[in-house]
Amino acid sequence: MDRIVIVGGAPLKGEIPISGAKNSALKLMAAALLTSEPLTLDSMPNLADTRFMAQLLMTLGVGVAWPDGSHTARLHAADVTSTIAPYDLVRKMRATFNVLGPLLARVGHATVSLPGGCAIGARPVDLHLKAFEAMGADIVIEGGYVKAAALRGLKGATIVFPFVSVGATEHAMLAATLARGETVLENAAREPEIADLANCLNAMGARIDGAGTSTIRIQGVETLGGARYPVVADRIEAGTYAIAAAAAGGEVQLVGARAEHLGALVQALRAAGVTVESRDGGLFVARDPGQPLKPVDIDTQPYPGFPTDLQAQFMALMTRAPGASIFRENIFENRFMHAPELRRLGADITVRGSEAVVRGAPRLVGAPVMATDLRASVSLVIAALMAEGETTINRVYHLDRGFERLEPKLAACGADVKRVSDRSPEPREGSVEGEAA
Ligand code: EPZ
Repeated sequence: MDRIVIVGGAPLKGEIPISGAKNSALKLMAAALLTSEPLTLDSMPNLADTRFMAQLLMTLGVGVAWPDGSHTARLHAADVTSTIAPYDLVRKMRATFNVLGPLLARVGHATVSLPGGCAIGARPVDLHLKAFEAMGADIVIEGGYVKAAALRGLKGATIVFPFVSVGATEHAMLAATLARGETVLENAAREPEIADLANCLNAMGARIDGAGTSTIRIQGVETLGGARYPVVADRIEAGTYAIAAAAAGGEVQLVGARAEHLGALVQALRAAGVTVESRDGGLFVARDPGQPLKPVDIDTQPYPGFPTDLQAQFMALMTRAPGASIFRENIFENRFMHAPELRRLGADITVRGSEAVVRGAPRLVGAPVMATDLRASVSLVIAALMAEGETTINRVYHLDRGFERLEPKLAACGADVKRVSDRSPEPREGSVEGEAA
């Protein structure tokens, strides 16, 4: 298993290129199932999760041409040869569940394992299934599998989500593209990844309006065609490096970052005393390491609120801000697993239910720590950049799920960071030990 070793204290200076968004790419890949023509995706992030999704698609009959290291993937579902996504694949990465809707819409039936809970929460899929039922699908849950059928095709429906769900919005939108008539999604999620998926589907011939707002209208079409489409820049990766630059101090240009997708973070960083500017089509972040940070309270919310996927990273930053900052996690019920690990470096964090109080510590000191899920693990990287001495982060396979070339990107800006490999196998224990996508 690989470890990452960081010696803290070096300010960051330079440029960091931002990759395509994992959480968009995974849904765009599922969209390939909707058409018999090729879908070519550019700016594909090379990650354990996107490669894993490609493997699943291949088991369903999708031809995948995605050379190692390439950022362009060509997905061609000329024929769907299987409509079954087995437990062993879905439990390892819950985003694979997103093949259900496209299979149902294109072929009329699908059998997909229920994803189960994961490290950050129970994460049911009831809203996804209710949306498909509203579109006329028969859904049976049997032996841990969702068996869905709409043999005469899906039909448009008005679906009012009781609360905002990114996954359910995307999944319903994917399926509705090929349904008969109009589907209206009310209280839809507004994340940039939703608009990205809609733009790609529209490039394939779908008729979707309103993605990025709370009401999305989809006029079903008979068939979709191929397209070439670039994955949007990863706002969570960009936000993570912005926080890393704030933590370590220095000056970093995040090349390709979309400032307009990071409003809540930019506001929080400025309140903490960090310089953040939209510059040269990217984001410029600077902080004088000699200047103390200011405490900032964080309340995670659906977009455009502060993203839950940046909560752990911002908490790492606040461990050095003199005073108290309060974190409220409103999206997932168990997303403070980084707190005990940050405490190992000397952070002062008290967790009570969905609230954590962070009191800025005068110093952090390096220690061995353990990554528990994707975003928690990168919060340990950020804390390590601020800590005195050496921090070893174990179980970095979590990081590899969502951050492409993390060590070279940080090292190019002057961070003292290296990966150490040994020969024991990398587990992919998914739902058991921290699957979180
Ligand atoms: C997506 O998860 C992301 N994953 C998550 O990123 C992200 O944290 C989350 O959206 C919120 O922004 C991917 O895009 C692959 P939700 P998703 O449906 O779609 C509950 C990362 O680190 N819920 O918006 O699963 C759910 O349990 C990951 O990259 C139901 O109760 O999130 C949660 O409490 C982690 N029933 C809340 O809604 C449902 O049917 C919001 O979840 C669906 C969701």
